[in-house]
Amino acid sequence: MTAECIELAVVIPTFNEAANVATLVARLDAALAGRTWEAIVVDDNSPDGTADAAREIARIDRRVRVIQRIGRRGLSTACIEGMCATAAPLVAVIDGDLQHDETLLPRMLDALEGDPTLDIAIGSRFAEGGGTGNWDRDRIAKSALATRLARHVLRADLSDPMSGFFMVRTAIVRRLAPDLTGIGFKILLDIMTTSPRPLAFVELPYTFRSRTRGESKLDHVVAMEYLIALYDRMFGRLIPVRFAMFSAIGLLGVGVHMAVLSVLLFAFDTAFVAGQIVAATVAMTANFFLNNALTYRDRRLRGWRQLIDGWVSFCVVCSVGLVANVGVAAFLHDARSGTWAASALVGVLVGAVWNYALSSRFTWGRY
Ligand code: GDD
Ligand code: MN
Repeated sequence: MTAECIELAVVIPTFNEAANVATLVARLDAALAGRTWEAIVVDDNSPDGTADAAREIARIDRRVRVIQRIGRRGLSTACIEGMCATAAPLVAVIDGDLQHDETLLPRMLDALEGDPTLDIAIGSRFAEGGGTGNWDRDRIAKSALATRLARHVLRADLSDPMSGFFMVRTAIVRRLAPDLTGIGFKILLDIMTTSPRPLAFVELPYTFRSRTRGESKLDHVVAMEYLIALYDRMFGRLIPVRFAMFSAIGLLGVGVHMAVLSVLLFAFDTAFVAGQIVAATVAMTANFFLNNALTYRDRRLRGWRQLIDGWVSFCVVCSVGLVANVGVAAFLHDARSGTWAASALVGVLVGAVWNYALSSRFTWGRY
């Protein structure tokens, strides 16, 4: 008896793609005729029943498997889990919405099987001969900006670093998996920039098809996660993402405070101390909601009870932070250990670290 060795696993991340999985598997079957492969659908418990649709196929086609993740979301982490769930030496990732050209797969396979020095084959929309189909100008511009950012910031010399369509040696992914960030959409970039040695790649052009069924999940949150991931790769070790966001929002709060205060003083003739109190309260409230929506969106407080509790504790923490800020600055100023500006700056920094450390514990660390 000769056992046929499995050559390739095709990982298909899905969220609400029930209308597309059967077509995709049929197209894989045609494109990969004569090769030994399996498909792994990684579905994040889609409400439209994608996992059931995939299991329906898997019942009669043993090459198809389903990983149904409960209570989790994220394209990158879905890809990582799928890639770690196979014994095949090569693994590809392809979108479940038929936008990637599956006929590229046998060529990726040939490239990697034919050249042992090659690590990864990447489907590229922007290499000579590739294309983005009928994208509107807005999406082309955004994609070009994201591509340029990635090229400069990460020094990844790829024509299409955002590509979600590629084939790689599975052992490489397994080795890198513990260090991948898993944030957002950019699994290819994550792999390329995490590898301690540059990966040898080849780019194969293809035309990105337009989606006919279902909806895209790439939205503003995904765009923000992308920027966060870039920041994290560049400065994350120096200044953690959360602290940077918290400080930026704090700076915005200073602006809010000054604006409110000047309106009260000049338009309403309010007494200075009363104006200060109102301005500080407005600024803290704005900061609380911004931090809740952005800095701590993964542990966001919801519902009246949590929000009021959170708001109160945030105001208490910030008030103490202000006292610490003023106290430290005054102490340094009196000790004449530097200029007034340096004293003030150290005060602000101490206040910011205080607010950050305590609010992460007492405002967003309780539920
Ligand atoms: N498991 C899982 N979990 N799958 C997801 C999730 C998720 O949270 N979000 C999206 N997907 C699946 C979709 O069902 C689809 O199969 C694939 O990931 C791509 O998602 P789309 O929502 O169709 O993204 P797109 O077409 O806008 O983005 C494409 O272009 C990007 C570059 O511009 C994709 O190819 C991306 O990979 C690529 O980075
Ligand atoms: Mn898509």
